[in-house]
Amino acid sequence: MILAVTFIASLLLVAAAKPMDRRAMVVHESRGEPARGFVNSGVAPAAKDLTLRIALKPNNIAGLETALYAVSDPASALYGQHLTADEVAEFVKPTDETVSAVSDWLSENGISSAPITPAGDMLQIVVPVSKANELLATDFSIFTHVDTGATSIRTLEYSIPASLQAHIDFFHPTTSFTRPLARPKFTAVKKVSPVPDVAPVSNAVPASCATTVTPACLQAIYGIPTTAATQSSNKLGVSGFIEQFANQADLKQFLTSLRTDISSATTFTLQTLDGGVNTQTRADAGIEANLDTQYTIGIATGVPITFISVGENNADSVDGFMDIITTLIKEATGTRPNVLTTSYGFDESDLSRAVATTLCNSYMQLGALGTSILFSSGDGGVSGSQSQTCTTFIPTLPSDCPFVTSVGATGGITETAASFSSGGFSNYFAIPSYQATDVATYLTTLGTTNSGKFNRTGRAFPDVSAQGENFEIAWDDEFGTVDGTSCSSPTFAAIIALLNDKLVAAGKAPLGFLNPFLYSATGRAALNDITTGDNPGCSTNGFPATVGWDPVTGLGTPNFARLQTAVGL
Ligand SMILES: *[C@@H]1O[C@H](CO)[C@@H](O)[C@H](O)[C@H]1NC(C)=O
Repeated sequence: MILAVTFIASLLLVAAAKPMDRRAMVVHESRGEPARGFVNSGVAPAAKDLTLRIALKPNNIAGLETALYAVSDPASALYGQHLTADEVAEFVKPTDETVSAVSDWLSENGISSAPITPAGDMLQIVVPVSKANELLATDFSIFTHVDTGATSIRTLEYSIPASLQAHIDFFHPTTSFTRPLARPKFTAVKKVSPVPDVAPVSNAVPASCATTVTPACLQAIYGIPTTAATQSSNKLGVSGFIEQFANQADLKQFLTSLRTDISSATTFTLQTLDGGVNTQTRADAGIEANLDTQYTIGIATGVPITFISVGENNADSVDGFMDIITTLIKEATGTRPNVLTTSYGFDESDLSRAVATTLCNSYMQLGALGTSILFSSGDGGVSGSQSQTCTTFIPTLPSDCPFVTSVGATGGITETAASFSSGGFSNYFAIPSYQATDVATYLTTLGTTNSGKFNRTGRAFPDVSAQGENFEIAWDDEFGTVDGTSCSSPTFAAIIALLNDKLVAAGKAPLGFLNPFLYSATGRAALNDITTGDNPGCSTNGFPATVGWDPVTGLGTPNFARLQTAVGL
């Protein structure tokens, strides 16, 4: 209310002074056409309020990147000396000059703004469409997502004053599109009765693991201990989006059948933001949320699990992906999870390069604080987050951000790449040095295969992989199996959480941003190289898995005992 009154009053002053005349406008972001699957269905109503976020240029993001690698590279003297939130904010906050240049321009236009991040690098304003059109010399339209009928207000191009280009990264939402978030691929949940929980004998993997994967299978295949973790400060966060609810009764049923050695009352702590809830009506249980909670709790024995339910009431226009990170950055060490696993993602081209970069930089911040960030790589092979028609390969976000660990999928007792395992090369992010040699070797082996269909200089993903087929879950009072890299990310995250438990117990730092360690000689030696299979899509066979890193299974799957040695335990 107060905002509206201020706005009308200052608009009159603005009209008298005509400050817009002083500003030369330049196109700041544009795209030729809406994201795949969206159509323009008309002019946005002038009076409709838009909540817009303004990303201000951080004062020293390159400095933060240097600091992140210094604390994440085992070869560095600063390894494990993660930053404090204040130290991170010093790099990320905009300069005073940036803040005043942007706020002067906004107040000339009668607009008040408020920072919404701890570092003050993101502002939020609420203005009617007519005002936004005038401010950004654009015409906001309504875009409809054809498959679902969902609508959003976006534009294909907007301008800002030339004098502010050095201060503003982007206005959002403008040229980025978010389709209704899909769950990664699942086979229909089959009605199967649970496989009996046979404790694995030494290294023997039960034959049933070839067709149905349970916690006991993963413990046997990767050598994961069943003994309980001891450190209450060492939390593992599980992201929940799109009203995917993690059901407690299903979890109890899962543990009763498949982890008979631990209390069936073992559960997660619920954290919510953006109006998130975790409805317990059994029929409303989410396959994704159940999978993610059952397999983190079922494998990371004794590690405190936080299910973070991000509601639909988010103004970040990337489905709450930015809001969850802003929330976690604000938390105290010991409350903030040491590992975060997320089994959702976008096709890279849906988001503008600027928005994708700021989202990726938010993972740089959280990583510098000491959190390992894992994402499922996607389930469409080289065709993106989901199977779809395409002529060039579609990389997935946030998996292709250099500051996260992307997890692809394998299957079988003798592991081979899962054909749906997304992987490839970013068009937005350049290749980070930690993987440059591996990727160069792979590209030499690949030769001219798929030439012209992917970007040879982009950040390559996934980094690692884990089992992702035939995971048995309890869902809506039944047992069934699911497939997807959604199985793989929680599995790998659970293993990292168990390693962190031992590190914290030994008075050491948690692992934090994993990739410099994983790609080191010690890290890669602790992984099982997967050398068979491929990830078809876009009418090709996709990429072949090979000896060494490949864009289907990354460096390979975990071996707990070797990882434990590799991290110095
Ligand atoms: C290829 O990736 C690089 C980042 O390494 C990027 O700068 C370039 O624009 C990309 N090319 C295309 C055609 O997207």
